[in-house]
Amino acid sequence: MRPFEQRHVLVVVTGGIAAYKTAYLVRRLREAEATVEVVLTSSAERFVGKATFEGLTGRPAGTSLWERPLDHIELGRRADLAIVAPATADFLACLAVGRADSLASATLLAADCPVLLCPAMNDRMWKHPATQRNVNTLRESGLEMLGPERGELAEGEVGMGRMSEPAEILAVAGRLLEEQTLDGYKIVVTAGPTRAPIDPVRYIGNRSSGHMGQALAASAWRRGADVVLVSGPASRPPPFGVGVIEVETSREMLEALSGALDDAHGLLMAAAVSDFVPAAPRSSKIKRGVGALALELVAGPDLLEETRAVRERRGIVTLGFALETEKALENGRSKLEAKNLDFVAVNEVGDPLSGFDVPTNKVTLLDRWGAVEEFPVLPKEEVADRLLDRIESRLD
Ligand code: CTP
Repeated sequence: MRPFEQRHVLVVVTGGIAAYKTAYLVRRLREAEATVEVVLTSSAERFVGKATFEGLTGRPAGTSLWERPLDHIELGRRADLAIVAPATADFLACLAVGRADSLASATLLAADCPVLLCPAMNDRMWKHPATQRNVNTLRESGLEMLGPERGELAEGEVGMGRMSEPAEILAVAGRLLEEQTLDGYKIVVTAGPTRAPIDPVRYIGNRSSGHMGQALAASAWRRGADVVLVSGPASRPPPFGVGVIEVETSREMLEALSGALDDAHGLLMAAAVSDFVPAAPRSSKIKRGVGALALELVAGPDLLEETRAVRERRGIVTLGFALETEKALENGRSKLEAKNLDFVAVNEVGDPLSGFDVPTNKVTLLDRWGAVEEFPVLPKEEVADRLLDRIESRLD
């Protein structure tokens, strides 16, 4: 999976209880198809044995400067990214003065790739002026820092000292590995379903999970964009790093969009917006006693239509989705024209590997310049990357 495929990630584990979470991080990196090598300090080995990491990576884990001569130089040279997780107070101090008395510190001194530090320690140790001085020195030297987070600590206290979760570390690692081609761009993404209330307890909704829009938002963020995700009630948590505006109805989605589009460069409309809304939502619950019930529905706002003026004025590159049951390409092309879009990703309903509620999608991308590109069935993350590649080329 991009951007980890064929990339070399060095994971340095130092001696804190959070080291058990690093095993899971290594597993996630492997699932994302990175080649992972692990180096442990001697205190890290007291928390998690090197056999665990060797099992997860399929490679020897390094622990000593004396095992294989020049290992520290080779490990540093091979790495596209180094992650220190957890980074203890002692190890930060060691790095801040540039010591090289362990395989872990010597390797990082010899590495010229980006380094991501994920500190974890007691909150009083974190707040100590000595630790803060070391953190500032490391930041000024260009090392990246993620966390620590506030939360429950191992000793039963609550404070600032928890290591960031593996999913967050993975997201930031992805951003550090990706070329920052969207740096300086603002991308607005819509995701998920909308709900049209019938009464205070019922609504008309749809089966969108929000996955496709979230994958687009994550891909744009990884490329350095400032991302605003306007999301209906999705069934998955939003990706790390993006600004999220949660909405429920299509009207709320429109209001959020209108605010967000003012200084945007791109709009990716992946939300499944309700087309029809009850004409008169009731303010109290409709009782069963009414017997049969006929609901009058009227058309809700068409968000692409309502944002057309600002999109045209600002030259916002816009991608729409078209969910079709028949004549998919023909209908997709007419949507592209009718809604004045730059791109339309056409989904054909009925393919069990595509569309709502599945982790994969099969889309054909049409653009206003006449191109038609059919992608195979791919994970939604991969579809998002491919769509962003095309959109990026039109952003200038
Ligand atoms: N969309 C929108 N406002 C709506 C409905 C849809 O902006 N009220 C956007 C969707 O986010 C998508 C695109 O329009 O990017 C096409 O959505 P789709 O449901 O396929 O088409 P509709 O415009 O609703 O047309 P139809 O249902 O007749 O196919």
